[in-house]
Amino acid sequence: MSTGFDEVSLIHNALPEFDREEIDVACELFGHKLDAPVIIESMTGGTPIAARINATLGKIAEELQIPMGVGSQRAAIDDPKLAYTFQAARENAPSALLLANLGCPQIIKEDGIERAKAAVEMIKADALFVHLNALQESIQFEGQTRFKGALGRIRELASALSVPVLAKETGAGISRETAVSVERAGVKGIDVAGLGGTSWAAVEYHRAREKRRARQARLGLVFWDWGIPTSASIVEVSKSTKVRIIASGGVRNGLHIAKAIALGAHYGGLAMPLLKSVSKSHKEAKESLLSVIDELKTAMFLTGSKNLDRLHECPFVITGKTREWLAARGLLS
Ligand SMILES: Cc1cc2nc3c(=O)[nH]c(=O)nc-3n(C[C@H](O)[C@H](O)[C@H](O)COP(=O)(O)O)c2cc1C
Repeated sequence: MSTGFDEVSLIHNALPEFDREEIDVACELFGHKLDAPVIIESMTGGTPIAARINATLGKIAEELQIPMGVGSQRAAIDDPKLAYTFQAARENAPSALLLANLGCPQIIKEDGIERAKAAVEMIKADALFVHLNALQESIQFEGQTRFKGALGRIRELASALSVPVLAKETGAGISRETAVSVERAGVKGIDVAGLGGTSWAAVEYHRAREKRRARQARLGLVFWDWGIPTSASIVEVSKSTKVRIIASGGVRNGLHIAKAIALGAHYGGLAMPLLKSVSKSHKEAKESLLSVIDELKTAMFLTGSKNLDRLHECPFVITGKTREWLAARGLLS
């Protein structure tokens, strides 16, 4: 299943009327200045290898002055000896914007507020991602499917924490209805993490096959393509809320980020491609992000968008299934 980015075309501007080097991709998130609207998505923590990955990604976030999310901090909250695997990010990114991370099953526990405060404190985070991953939890054999009371707890968190709370999916997208609910509950940002990139149904299918768990494997197959494609999810959220919007889920280059911003997002985020490149070297991961920023600037030059505000207003056409989706949802303007 695709993100839908292939069905979005930005309109070429043959006469940009400015020089490429004048393009400005600087922006801000929650008062932090960012050198580019690119986010290192939440991925890992909890093991010695994860500590090395978080250290390297933190270093890159600091060097490029872009935000970074750590993976779910559940393990380190249950066992504080593992906190160092997440703190490695902050040690290497003293001034970059860092996002703590916990899932719904964690925040709805009786001590959920304390858990969230501890996650933020652990890495001196600037914001907290609450991930909503019902699909993955449903397919995992050991999945935690307690979600009752999550919205109310998000509301409590939004007023109890000293940092902004964001809601994020992990690969199945956010609908207009969910976006409106979490905005009303006080979240300041949404990471759509839509369908078309990393598929947790697929990951859990393969895990289940290895463990010979036939029913879980079958669930993974049936729900393989479940979710809202990233491009449609961006429109669902941007047309219904005023929160900061991160586009992730199959964002693989700077042109994808340019399309996401034209559709209504403010930032683009990458997970899996960075995990692959950071496993090779710091240089490879940093280079891949610099390429993404270069591609974004090229898309801006070719659309006559000197800055991100102009890119936000860039004309585009939507075709195919994405168009049909948006029409069916009354979101085509
Ligand atoms: C290896 C890996 C681990 C992830 N772990 C988390 C996590 O702990 N918490 C979370 O909110 N999202 C997690 N995600 C989801 C990503 O943050 C991202 O939203 C999603 O993978 C879509 O991006 P992608 O297609 O670029 O991978 C993880 C993704 C990957 C690839």
